[in-house]
Amino acid sequence: MDYEERITSAELGQGEERAEFSLRPQKLSEYIGQGKVTDNLKIFIDAAKMRKEPLDHVLFYGPPGLGKTTLAGIIANEMGVDIRITSGPAIERAGDLAAILTNLNENDVLFIDEIHRLNRSVEEVLYSAMEDYALDIIIGKGPSARSIRLDIARFTLIGATTRAGSLSAPLRDRFGVSCKFEMYTKEELAEIIKRTADLLEVRVDEQSVLEMAKRSRGTPRIANRILKRVRDFSQVKGTGDIDIDITRKALEALGVDYLGLENLDREILKTIIYRFDGGPVGIDTIAASIGEERVTIEDVYEPYLIQAGLLNRTKKGRVASRKAYTHLGIDSGDDNDDEQTMMDL
Ligand code: ADE
Repeated sequence: MDYEERITSAELGQGEERAEFSLRPQKLSEYIGQGKVTDNLKIFIDAAKMRKEPLDHVLFYGPPGLGKTTLAGIIANEMGVDIRITSGPAIERAGDLAAILTNLNENDVLFIDEIHRLNRSVEEVLYSAMEDYALDIIIGKGPSARSIRLDIARFTLIGATTRAGSLSAPLRDRFGVSCKFEMYTKEELAEIIKRTADLLEVRVDEQSVLEMAKRSRGTPRIANRILKRVRDFSQVKGTGDIDIDITRKALEALGVDYLGLENLDREILKTIIYRFDGGPVGIDTIAASIGEERVTIEDVYEPYLIQAGLLNRTKKGRVASRKAYTHLGIDSGDDNDDEQTMMDL
């Protein structure tokens, strides 16, 4: 199955963007979680506003679905400026970026998602734009070609990436602020689910909120998606309100287990366990075995499997943890297994 179709995919599905937008918090005070990031940003925003200057360029990095775009929108709101949202792959040529940059107003925010996927020639235009608020444009060809410098409005670039390591050093160095997004705690996810349920005007009891939070892989986008699907089940098969019975039934029907894993997550773990004796096994080998791209496994599946303690990344390759055996109900052949099972659960 394509990972974008999964209920627990952290990527935005088609048509989801608009729906998600209306649920997004607009102010910093409404944003739940990422305390370390928001505490610092609040100070930088206040200071920039006092100086009547644009906020310094900001880099957001971390797994998908953790609220990078949402926070970029909030920054623009708090600064009282407009935001232009685009992505690395959408800016194909240097001219596309020049067109965007010349349309920005003073202090505006330009948000570039997947900034690690910008191509080289586009990235080079960005350097002088970020540093000097200027574009160097080449006019003409051959010996008569010359370069002219065009000033643009002073703006803030917010770049987002799932892989900070893939950013070139010159680009990375031009961000004044760098923020790492962490997975959310169950409590934070529960708060987010309650907030969304209020906005959707659906009643959810506390136990169901916690059950959904536990199965959301530390990711608000998944939490909100699960809530909407459980609401569907409740509307059709229940009373419209969400209780633990309908929550469990819906999650079972959706194939989401109690740790939030779906088929492909389990397949990754089973591949390591059954075909490679629990590992270590290289990521490319795993990718080839299950027919997924390496980057998808690294960016989308692995972060949560590691965070949940099911998978370890070692120098020699990936290793399935004891907890993975327990979770999948596979005997690891270890005498202490029963004891460990009780402890891990
Ligand atoms: N909806 C999605 N992410 C959120 C967050 N971090 N805070 C509040 N609501 C959200």
